[in-house]
Amino acid sequence: MNEGEDARMQYEEYLKFKELVEDHILYFLPEVDRKSFTLYEAMAYSLNAGGKMLRPVLLLAACDFCGGDEKLALPYACAIEYIHTYSLIHDDLPAMDNDDLRRGLPTNHKVFGEAVAILAGDGLLTSAFETMNKDMLLYLDNVEKLKRRVRAIYEISKGAGCRGMIAGQLADIEAENKECTKEILDYIHLNKTAALIKAAVRAGAYLGGADKETLDHLDEYAENIGLAFQIMDDVLDLDGDEEQLGKKTGSDQANRKATYPCRYGLQESHDKIKELTANAKRIMEPYYDNAEFFIQLADDLAGRIK
Ligand code: IPE
Ligand code: IPE
Ligand code: MG
Ligand code: MG
Ligand code: MG
Repeated sequence: MNEGEDARMQYEEYLKFKELVEDHILYFLPEVDRKSFTLYEAMAYSLNAGGKMLRPVLLLAACDFCGGDEKLALPYACAIEYIHTYSLIHDDLPAMDNDDLRRGLPTNHKVFGEAVAILAGDGLLTSAFETMNKDMLLYLDNVEKLKRRVRAIYEISKGAGCRGMIAGQLADIEAENKECTKEILDYIHLNKTAALIKAAVRAGAYLGGADKETLDHLDEYAENIGLAFQIMDDVLDLDGDEEQLGKKTGSDQANRKATYPCRYGLQESHDKIKELTANAKRIMEPYYDNAEFFIQLADDLAGRIK
């Protein structure tokens, strides 16, 4: 992670989960044949580039919150980061957002070429499911534990797939160069970004053995911070600091993207982030100290804006 982003998410619990993920992120990656070493290099390049690890941290935190052992959730946490990282590699390709800088480094296709970058994304996506399924094989004789894992994989598949992140990415591309309605803008943000954030929390909750009520609260929390997170990403693309973000600003304007600041202006975008953050915190407040991580995280993410 580049220094600016790191400084904003320094608190102990976040770092504890993040370090766990960083220590295992290559460990769970399936071994590749020596003849395919370029594929491994390209996948490892983007995984190690220093992302915030928000989704896997949320997955582990939700598992822990619901009474599970977060270490047992690590294959799922790493898998969701593989999926997120693949989405960034593909998102940066010339056919999509055409960006040169990611996580403070040249984008995957700038280093390895477009063909390898596409394959590295494909490799990460399939590795995610291989990693989760390999873990499930350990529980074939324990139906209760197996059920939790099947549910977690279903949540992740749904959030990452054609009714989630990919649907949002398509809508994002189709909305370029157009006036877009409020409904379409929310559809884009809720799907391209909030869906995977929600999947991380829901998968972690299932792995931890959540009851229905807790699952519903976590779901609502995640949807609020997920939408706030993408609005903030839009705002930072406009007035953020490239060094802190590790990616170039002005990309959305160059691609004439449908964004919150473009549709509503900066002030309304800030107000919306505040409103969503307050909603997220209100949902978790009844859990008092147990929910401290989630409450602090909501504030922390909103605090990325100066
Ligand atoms: C970037 O996600 C893409 C969006 C959904 C806004 P992050 O801001 O979580 O990126 P990394 O993982 O820290 O690089
Ligand atoms: C990307 O949204 C969401 C993904 C699913 C990758 P953006 O295109 O706004 O993300 P950045 O700004 O490139 O990180
Ligand atoms: Mg994009
Ligand atoms: Mg992009
Ligand atoms: Mg963006």
